[in-house]
Amino acid sequence: MSPRQALSASAALDYTPEVARATAAIGERVRAVIPPLEWPVHAPYVAAIAEWKARRNAVVLAHNYQTPEIYHGVADFTGDSLALAQYGAGTAADVIVLAGVHFMAETAKILSPGKTVLIPDPRAGCSLAAAITAADIRLLRQRYPGVPVVTYVNTSAAVKAESDVCCTSANAVAVVESLGVPRVIFLPDEYLGRYVAEQTAVEVILWRGHCEVHERFTAAELRGFRAGHPGIHILAHPECPPEVLAEADFVGSTAAMIRHIGDTGPRRVVMVTECSMSDNVAVEFPNVDFVRPCALCPHMKRITLPKILRSLQEMEHRVEVAPQIAGRARVALERMLAVGRRERREQAVEPR
Ligand code: 13P
Ligand code: SF4
Repeated sequence: MSPRQALSASAALDYTPEVARATAAIGERVRAVIPPLEWPVHAPYVAAIAEWKARRNAVVLAHNYQTPEIYHGVADFTGDSLALAQYGAGTAADVIVLAGVHFMAETAKILSPGKTVLIPDPRAGCSLAAAITAADIRLLRQRYPGVPVVTYVNTSAAVKAESDVCCTSANAVAVVESLGVPRVIFLPDEYLGRYVAEQTAVEVILWRGHCEVHERFTAAELRGFRAGHPGIHILAHPECPPEVLAEADFVGSTAAMIRHIGDTGPRRVVMVTECSMSDNVAVEFPNVDFVRPCALCPHMKRITLPKILRSLQEMEHRVEVAPQIAGRARVALERMLAVGRRERREQAVEPR
């Protein structure tokens, strides 16, 4: 960045009357979760990021666990891992800034090799992605010859490259069943794998990876929500342990939880997942009372407005995937996306 650009970037960070005007509608929309007193801290970044996005022909994709000032303030698209992958593959923008964790940015780069994909903090990892290596998969294949490997997207590109097909928590059952085999190896999330095994007749060989956020919830905690808030509707992410899921009224991906609230209109809910979800969703459903247990993903929280702005200004940190890995990982991701397309086509067929 030239000294002139640096000067104009820092000037844009004051809460001027122009910034206040340009961001007033967003500040108003999020006032239930970002107090008006706090908005002047975020607003200059929101305005500056909008300007730099236009300059770079960039889009910001934000996962549902991002903080509300990112989710509602600067994101062009928000969603679960599946939706972010689908959107990233189709966008016409030159630059994708992934406000999420590293595997999400890698997935975007694999599906859009011609685009510049930036992650505002490359240290934003994931305990599941750290739980398995490409060498582990090669050993599993020796142990279970001919059994297909289904890999959760919460993995590195090198792990995806060793897999037959990827899945997310939104489509895991459909992906497993799409293979038409009696047995699959499911990696690396043990609890998501157990949940899938309950929903299908396919035998599921598991790995012992866990999400460091969801593994901490307990069944006793959920029973406590029910006892303390009569009539509460409990929604849980399938990365939670099985005894936790057994206490829930609904189990689904982050996007499925949001859809479920929209479809069923509960009066009071608790989302058994990362903290920011409830803040983000509460903005969209002001009439629903959200009980908010706080389980913070330290990796998701590495992404902040100042880092997103810097990412656009400096065009950093670029996500690259070696071509020989990217090519094979893309096959596994494309197979997953094809399952979704097939399902949507089948659903669209009018019943006779
Ligand atoms: P979703 O695909 O449901 O958004 O989950 C991603 C994730 O990292 C959950 O912890
Ligand atoms: Fe990974 Fe869990 Fe954080 Fe999701 S919430 S990114 S699975 S550590």
